[in-house]
Amino acid sequence: MSPLAGGDVRGAARADAVALRAPTSADRGRVREITEASGVFRPDEVAIALEVFDGAVAAPGKDYRAVGAYEDDRLVGFAAFGPVPCTVATWDLYWIAVDPVLHGSGIGRTLMAHCEAAITAEGGRLVVVETSSRDDYGPTRAFYRRLRYHEHAAITDYYAPGDGLVVYTKSLAPSVNG
Ligand SMILES: CC(C)(COP(=O)(O)OP(=O)(O)OC[C@H]1O[C@@H](n2cnc3c(N)ncnc32)[C@H](O)[C@@H]1OP(=O)(O)O)[C@@H](O)C(=O)NCCC(=O)NCCS
Repeated sequence: MSPLAGGDVRGAARADAVALRAPTSADRGRVREITEASGVFRPDEVAIALEVFDGAVAAPGKDYRAVGAYEDDRLVGFAAFGPVPCTVATWDLYWIAVDPVLHGSGIGRTLMAHCEAAITAEGGRLVVVETSSRDDYGPTRAFYRRLRYHEHAAITDYYAPGDGLVVYTKSLAPSVNG
C-alpha cells in the first residue's frame, strides 16, 4: 500500500493513530459490521459492498483496489475504488464507510486522501462518487463537499421513488511523475 499523501489529514488525533494498509479476507466480518452499522445501506447494498471488497482482496488492482484503516489491528474503516472501464483515467470511489462510533474523527478524510493519492499515482485525473439524495445521506454529502467534491449531476428517483442519485466529481492534479 503506498503511503498516504502528506498534508491532507487534519484535526483528530484519532485519525493520526490509524494505520492504512491493504485489507485481507480476515477483515470481511468487520466490513460487514461497519456497513451494516452505518444504518444507511440496505441489505442488498451490504451484499454489494462485500462483493466489491472480495474482488479487491482476491485480485488487488484488477477491477477494484481497497484500503483499510486500522486501530490496533482492528479494521475501523475502508474504501474501495477503481478505474472506470471505457473511460480515459476516470476513477470511481465505489465504497467508503467508517465505524459509526468513530465518525467525525478524521478517518474518512484520511481514507479519501489515500484513495486520491493512489489514483493520482496511477495516472487518474477525475474521481466520481455516486451517493443518494435521501435525508439520511445529508452527512455523507456534507463530507464530500467538505473534501471539495462538486455536485455534478442528479437523477431524481434513481435508486427508488424518493431516493435520487447525486454524482460528485473532483479533478485531481496531475502526478509529478506525469
Ligand atoms: C461519510 C463517512 C465515510 C465520513 O467519515 P468520517 O470519518 O466520519 O469523516 P471525517 O471525520 O474524516 O470528516 C472529514 C470532513 O468532513 C466533514 N464531515 C464529516 N461528517 C460530517 C457531517 N455529518 N456534517 C458535516 N460535515 C461533516 C468533517 O467536518 C470533516 O471536515 P474537517 O476535516 O474540515 O473538519 C462516514 O460518515 C460514514 O461511514 N458514513 C456512512 C456510510 C456512507 O455514507 N458512505 C458513503 C456512501 S456513498
